[in-house]
Amino acid sequence: MRIAVVGSGYVGLIAAVCFAELGHAVICVDNDTEKVAALQAGQVPIFEERLPELLARHRGEGLQFSTDLHLAARQSEVIFIAVGTPQAANGEADLSYVEACAREITAELDEYKVVVEKSTVPVLTNQWIRRTLRFNGAIDENYDVVSNPEFLREGTAIEDFLYPDRIVVGADSERARAVLRRVYQPLIDGSYYSLPSCVPGPRDLTSGARYMETSARSAELIKHASNAFLALKISFINAVSNICELVGTDVQEVSAGIGADFRIGSRFLNAGIGYGGSCFPKDVRAFYKIAESVGYDFDLLQAVEEINEAQKLSFLKKVRAALWTLKGKRIGVLGLAFKGGTDDIRESPAISIVQSLLAEGCIVSAYDPAAMEKARQTMADHENLRFACDEFDAARGAHALLVVTEWPQFAGLDLQRLRQTMLYPVMIDGRNLFDLNQMASAGFHYYSMGRPVTEPKLAPRMDMEYK
Ligand SMILES: NC(=O)c1ccc[n+]([C@@H]2O[C@H](COP(=O)([O-])OP(=O)(O)OC[C@H]3O[C@@H](n4cnc5c(N)ncnc54)[C@H](O)[C@@H]3O)[C@@H](O)[C@H]2O)c1
Repeated sequence: MRIAVVGSGYVGLIAAVCFAELGHAVICVDNDTEKVAALQAGQVPIFEERLPELLARHRGEGLQFSTDLHLAARQSEVIFIAVGTPQAANGEADLSYVEACAREITAELDEYKVVVEKSTVPVLTNQWIRRTLRFNGAIDENYDVVSNPEFLREGTAIEDFLYPDRIVVGADSERARAVLRRVYQPLIDGSYYSLPSCVPGPRDLTSGARYMETSARSAELIKHASNAFLALKISFINAVSNICELVGTDVQEVSAGIGADFRIGSRFLNAGIGYGGSCFPKDVRAFYKIAESVGYDFDLLQAVEEINEAQKLSFLKKVRAALWTLKGKRIGVLGLAFKGGTDDIRESPAISIVQSLLAEGCIVSAYDPAAMEKARQTMADHENLRFACDEFDAARGAHALLVVTEWPQFAGLDLQRLRQTMLYPVMIDGRNLFDLNQMASAGFHYYSMGRPVTEPKLAPRMDMEYK
C-alpha cells in the first residue's frame, strides 16, 4: 500500500520503517528540514535497537523521507499522523500540530483516503479532525478518520511494533476497517514472521498478532487509559515502598509477592524515583483534563501524579540523609535518560534530580550510555556540571554515587573498583539495581527505594574516612 507517515519522531520514524518492513511504499514527512536532510543522508537520529539496520534496508527503496506533506498525502492511500501532542500550559493535550496536519492534507483528499491518528490524543479528537477536514473543504465520501494508537516502548520500539501485544484500530466505517486490515495484514495473518528476513522477536506470532477493532472513541480511550493505568501501577508500588521504609521491610519482596498474582502481574511494580518520559506525565494529565471536560472528576489520577512527584523529593531527601550537607559535595550521577535503553531525556526524573542537586550547590559529574548528547544540548551550561566519559569517570572522587536510570550495564559494574574510585563509599540507588547483601559486602553505605539502608560489611578503609 502507499502510506504517508507524518512526523519522524520516535513513533513516526519507527512506524514508517516498520511499514516499509511489511512491504508497503512509505513516505515519512517532517517539517523539521534538518531532521529530514539527516534522514535522507543516512543518519539515524534516535537511539533505538535495530533501527540502523532497518533504515539501511529500506531507505531509498520502500521508504522515502520528505518535507512535502502535500506531495506525500497526494501519493498515499493512508495517512498516519504521528506528530507530537505535548502538554499545553493548562494541562490539556496541545493538538495544534495534529490540527495543522489535518488542515494541510485536506487539499489532497480528492479521492478516498484514510486519515489515521497514530499520535496519542484525547477521546473525541477523531470528530475534531473530521470537522477540520470538512471545514477546509473535504467531501465526506473522500475520507475516513481512524484511531490507531501506538503502544511501543522506547528502547524496544521496533520489536514492540512488529510483535505487538495487540493492534487496536478504532474505525467507524467498514471501508476504513478494510484498509487498515490491509496495512497490518502481514502481522494479522502471521506471514511476516515466516519471512527469512523477519526481525526476530520475543515470542512466536506465526499464528498472527492480536488485532482488535473498536469504535474510534474506544480506541482513543484505550490509549489514554492504558498509559494512565501503567502510571497508576508505578505510583501504587511507590506508595507501598514508602510504607516498607516506615516499617522496615523490603519492597522487592513485597512486589514479588503482589506480582505473583496473575490478575496483577509483576510488570511495572518496581519501586523507584517515579515515571517520566514524553508520554506518561502528559497523558495522565491530558486524561484527567478530558475527563473533567466531559464532566467526570478523575481525582485518582491526581493522586497518581502527586505520588510520582513525591518520589523525586524522597530520593533527594535520601541524598541529604546520606551526605549531611550538600553544598560543595561532589556527586556522581549514573543515568540521564528517563529510562534505560533510550536516549530520550524528555521529562526525565534523572534530569530534574541533577538540576535540584546543582541548585543546592553540588558539583555533579554525570554519565549515561546513550543520552549524553541530548543532555548536553538541553541542559544549560552550568559551571558545576560535567559530563563524564564512563561510569568510573563519573564516580571518581565523588562523595556519593547516584543511580537514577535503570541501565542494565550499571547493575554489572565492578563494585570494588567503583568504591575505590570514590571518595566516600556511598551509593543512593533510585532504581533498586543492586542486591542489598552484595552492596554491603562490597563495602558501600547503600540507600535505595523502599528497602532498608545497608552498611558496609568490610571495615572502612582509613583513607576513606571523612576526608
Ligand atoms: N515516544 C513514545 O514512546 C510514544 C509511544 C506511543 C505514543 N506516542 C505518541 O506519539 C506522538 C508522537 O510522539 P513522538 O515521541 O514520536 O514525538 P516526537 O516529538 O519525537 O516527534 C514528532 C515529530 O513530528 C514533527 N512534526 C510536528 N508537526 C509537524 C507537521 N505539521 N508536519 C510534519 N511534521 C511535524 C516534529 O518535527 C517531530 O519530528 C505523541 O502523541 C506521543 O504521545 C509516543
